[in-house]
Amino acid sequence: MWHKGVEHSPIIITIDGPGGSGKGTIARLTASSLGFHVLDSGALYRLTALAAQNRQVDLADSAAVAKIAETLDVEFVSGECQKSSKIILDGHEVTHALRTEQAGEAASKVAAIPLVRQALLKRQRDFAVAPGLVADGRDMGTVVFSEALLKIYLTASVQIRAERRYKELKEKGESVSLPQLFDEIKARDDRDMGRSVAPLKPADDAVIIDSSRLSIEEVLDLVLGEYHKAVSTKSL
Ligand code: DC
Repeated sequence: MWHKGVEHSPIIITIDGPGGSGKGTIARLTASSLGFHVLDSGALYRLTALAAQNRQVDLADSAAVAKIAETLDVEFVSGECQKSSKIILDGHEVTHALRTEQAGEAASKVAAIPLVRQALLKRQRDFAVAPGLVADGRDMGTVVFSEALLKIYLTASVQIRAERRYKELKEKGESVSLPQLFDEIKARDDRDMGRSVAPLKPADDAVIIDSSRLSIEEVLDLVLGEYHKAVSTKSL
């Protein structure tokens, strides 16, 4: 069972939001302070897109891409599906290849295919094991774990997200243009929010946090505060 966190079922916290809002970092820190597992669901969409591209499958071929999603041969070396995990796809390490802008762009395209989302549903729910899971993505609170104990929607302005990404890529020594990143982030938001199936939006019962002017520590404090409030309200 993956919902509600009653009895012995795992407690679920979902963190949804657009790319660059800091949800991956916050999910990881929240999980480590509570001793929970983490699911970076975007990695599964990135893996599907990468596997399709490696097999020269056209990303517009919905049935073929869905088949790939269903049969992904992937190993998370630490057992956790999170950003820093070593990931092996079809026997080859793809840890770094998964994190490029190009992989994110391709992931956003395959994520708009309803059959792909369906194929990845069970795989995502299987990560919900005791004592709990912090799942980050776009539809964790609205679809995949719709009965989660706590749902966070973490956002930030496009300009701030582009600046954060710019800094991150510069630090890695990559040459990037801020206006181009701004346009790419905006285009990805439009696609993720505009698709017909599981569009990015806050769940009705989500707590919305705008991280534009907050530090990581401040966001983490807010999330942990909401978690303790939810636990006491629902008297787990
Ligand atoms: O979080 P990310 O940048 O790794 O996600 C890559 C793409 O995958 C993102 O543009 C949209 C898609 N995605 C999704 O549709 N649903 C999720 N739960 C997670 C990611």
